[in-house]
Amino acid sequence: MRARSTVQAPANIAFIKYWGTTAPERALPANPSISMTLRECVSRCTVELRDGGEDEILLVDDEGPHVPPPAFSDRIQAHLDRLREWAGREVRFRVGTQNSFPAGAGLASSASGFAALTLAVLRVLDLDPGPAQRSALARRSGSGSAARSVFGGFVRWPVADAGPAIAPAAPIAGPDHWPLRDIIAVVETEPKAVSSLEGHQRAPGSPHYARRQTLLPERLEVVGTAIRERSLDRLGPVLEEEAVELHLIAMSSRPPIFYWRPATLAVLEAVRGLREDGVAAYFTMDAGANVHVVCEPAEAAAVVERLAALPGVRRVIRDGVGPGPIELDTHLI
Ligand code: DP6
Repeated sequence: MRARSTVQAPANIAFIKYWGTTAPERALPANPSISMTLRECVSRCTVELRDGGEDEILLVDDEGPHVPPPAFSDRIQAHLDRLREWAGREVRFRVGTQNSFPAGAGLASSASGFAALTLAVLRVLDLDPGPAQRSALARRSGSGSAARSVFGGFVRWPVADAGPAIAPAAPIAGPDHWPLRDIIAVVETEPKAVSSLEGHQRAPGSPHYARRQTLLPERLEVVGTAIRERSLDRLGPVLEEEAVELHLIAMSSRPPIFYWRPATLAVLEAVRGLREDGVAAYFTMDAGANVHVVCEPAEAAAVVERLAALPGVRRVIRDGVGPGPIELDTHLI
């Protein structure tokens, strides 16, 4: 048994969004989703076995390891309890977790964080239940999109069919299949006011929710084909439709949720401007104000330059498709 293990897991950006759940407590999705795993936006998590006592949870940032606020540690604590129960092991953990990017800013820090935590706990317990269980255990953190972050490249997360489904995601193409870039315009670094979990639960109250469900089979088909054929011309328009519709549903939920900031709209206009100038770039967004701009490597410099010049953009992150989680030799705690 390893005494300590550190895993780095990436965030992912959804091309087809998970928005709406049939079982919030188990994060079972109401619709299939497809995402691209990132390379630069990552979480790292060290898990150490303790001799006894209580679990200890530390957030590691510029100030070094410190005790995070309860809102942060409670979700980690609940997941440690879940994993302990699943493993049937009466052990205690010391956990240190770190993000390479602003947490809670619509950059899927929960997905990468819970994927890293799940994988580090499995390593430290010397358990390897296989890829489907790894994905399902990450999903059970409550951050459903963590199910996709345990894989690299392009990932599909279907709806669980029946029974006590484990509802894992699965890779559909590796990271070398298509070297897409994701240029992220950070316009907001504060945590979002309404969680995704709340958003999933409010979504069916929107009059646009049911209509999106009818459009999804064709969209999933188009995105699958676009990835297979490496066609940004096919992928791009669907990316933008999905992003706008996620926010249309959020804004028309009851009560409504407004994630956009004025600078969000400025970035969307800049992306349209780039296309008018012949740069093939398309936006997408998760449940937050920040905008992800997807393009081929040859266009990345032009996209970065245009986005960085916008007054409301605080930071531009150059990201792209990545290989998925890795184990590290250096530990956070
Ligand atoms: C809009 O419930 O996985 O990003 O717990 O905040 O990571 P977090 O969210 P989760 O919902 C993700 C919603 C989404 C779309 C997506 O990633 O599919």
